[in-house]
Amino acid sequence: MNLPDALRIDLRRIEREMKRIVKSDKDLPPSSELADALLRTIDAGGKRLRPMLVLVGGRFGKRADDPRLFQLAAAAEFIHTASLIHDDLIDRSALRRGEPALHTRIGPAKALYVGSYMSARVVELMAQADGKAGADRPSFASFATAELCLGEYEQLEHAYDYDLGLDEYLSKSRRKTAHLMAVSLEFGARAAGAPEEICRRLHAFGEHLGLSFQIRDDLLDLTASSRQLGKPAGSDLLGGQVTLPVLYALEDPALAAEIRSVGRDTDPALIAPLLDKIRSSGALERAESFGAQELERACEIARSLGEYAASADLLKLADYFGGRKF
Ligand code: IPE
Ligand code: IPE
Ligand code: MG
Ligand code: MG
Repeated sequence: MNLPDALRIDLRRIEREMKRIVKSDKDLPPSSELADALLRTIDAGGKRLRPMLVLVGGRFGKRADDPRLFQLAAAAEFIHTASLIHDDLIDRSALRRGEPALHTRIGPAKALYVGSYMSARVVELMAQADGKAGADRPSFASFATAELCLGEYEQLEHAYDYDLGLDEYLSKSRRKTAHLMAVSLEFGARAAGAPEEICRRLHAFGEHLGLSFQIRDDLLDLTASSRQLGKPAGSDLLGGQVTLPVLYALEDPALAAEIRSVGRDTDPALIAPLLDKIRSSGALERAESFGAQELERACEIARSLGEYAASADLLKLADYFGGRKF
């Protein structure tokens, strides 16, 4: 069984809500290139993990069917999608979700504005939905977007920085990936009227889950084939991303010298033999075990919420993030 079925979530409803937001935007004429770019981006798919987290969070409150939850779910996906548009532009990555990345189709400048428009409209939409009731607390969309930008900024600052510390790796990963997952669960629960303490615990669950997710994604750069990834294997390494497995590999002096020689002008053909050496260094196993520990922390929180039926859904999420297919 796949994840949406295991969680009894109909992804079509989320996609309908995303399209409704675009189509009801009075500033976007239906035939405009901007509207077309947004709709095509929605159609390109994606796993829709963050909307699912919003809806699962909502199950901890009394109003799990509140229509506002679907708006929040769509907003979470827009924030994520905008971040991917920007990420691919910055990384000059040609493929996303098996299709040409937006910047390769419409050019970098337009892609930049499509991404920015998406986040700005979502911030506006969420602020309207919060109304006066939300005036005293950070809005979901602005909070999520700001942290994401900070994380991506930290990542850029540390490109080809082989002296990066574990704490810095964790900080940027939490900000760019885990935080959006954490607030998706937290704000989903709050929108459904869950008690504050539960919202906080769901946030913590999402942070551990999200960090394990980024570590898994970082490992894929070293373990998956280029065909599976839809981009050349080792792209992170070539692009100067010091991911967790690379951090561990840097502890081996001989390997460290080779990794440190990777710079902006490195020939991509030299990456494959280095990937092999990193794979046989034990660094991948150490990163996997760090990810597994994060997931176990998430499971502990899920089990502590055992009085709620939806805690079983948190465990299903953790299982999925740990690599089990439904
Ligand atoms: C990819 O996220 C970017 C990371 C945070 C590692 P997803 O794997 O959730 O991407 P889609 O939405 O399914 O394409
Ligand atoms: C996640 O990180 C990107 C964002 C959170 C914006 P990655 O850079 O690792 O994502 P992929 O590997 O390009 O999907
Ligand atoms: Mg990237
Ligand atoms: Mg990645």
